Amino acid sequence: MITLTGVTKRFTGPDGPLTAVDNVDLHVPRGSVQGVIGFSGAGKSTLIRMINLLERPDTGSVLVDGEELTTLDEESLRRRRTKIGMVFQQFNLLENLTAGQNVELALRVAGLPKAVRAARVAEALAVVDLADRAGSYPSKLSGGQKQRVAIARALANEPSVLLCDEPTSAVDPRTTITVLRYLKEINERLGITIVLVTHEMNVVKAIADDVAVMEDGKVVEHLRLDGSPLQPRTEISRFLLDDELRLGPTDVAAAKEARRAG
Ligand SMILES: Nc1ncnc2c1ncn2[C@@H]1O[C@H](COP(=O)(O)OP(=O)(O)OP(=O)(O)O)[C@@H](O)[C@H]1O
Ligand SMILES: [Mg+2]
Repeated sequence: MITLTGVTKRFTGPDGPLTAVDNVDLHVPRGSVQGVIGFSGAGKSTLIRMINLLERPDTGSVLVDGEELTTLDEESLRRRRTKIGMVFQQFNLLENLTAGQNVELALRVAGLPKAVRAARVAEALAVVDLADRAGSYPSKLSGGQKQRVAIARALANEPSVLLCDEPTSAVDPRTTITVLRYLKEINERLGITIVLVTHEMNVVKAIADDVAVMEDGKVVEHLRLDGSPLQPRTEISRFLLDDELRLGPTDVAAAKEARRAG
């Protein structure tokens, strides 16, 4: 269970101060998949990074599994963070370590004994069907396989929450489906709560229970994906819901221009 209440994050940008996330409330029930969607710069990454306090909110509360994270000291926060897995767009694997060693690294940091580490690495790689690639270096793996190793790495610490920031943005459409299938399976079989940031509606529609639509740092709408027809209230939701669109920079610029023009 994740509950963000009134979280705000301000940065100083090149044009002066900006509010990346503006007084957002978000409740993610245990075991659900929460999508977060919006254009580039909407504040999606900043929001998801506040769930494990990679970004510390200027104001607001961050509750994960009943624990307030903003008041923890550094050491408690470091331990707490190991139970919040994270997966990034660019995989972030270490090239000089094998798949297995990449997965094991976080377990070493957590100080787990060797036998436990070996078992956890094997289990985590098995979840993403890469048990036979434990000895492969990242350079020998496809983009989809690399992302699955990154997912295994996040799972090895047995997290209750998995934060995914555009996990499919660097892989092709067919691989996207594979990665989503593993995420859904992890959610259903292991009961792990997932927060999935993307700018592709097709991606969240495939697996999320609820989608928070972000614009200019705010959550402007929730779309519930419970099988009933979607009835978007905001213009941005309607735009994002257009299945045919794969939002590239040109589409985004065109959409913003269209919205400015009224
Ligand atoms: N560390 C930082 N310092 C200054 N400004 C930042 C920082 N991180 C983010 N921002 C700004 O905050 C705003 C929100 O950024 P964020 O990365 O959260 O957006 P996003 O929705 O994830 O975008 P994208 O889809 O491009 O990843 C942007 O205007 C960005 O430039
Ligand atoms: Mg981002």
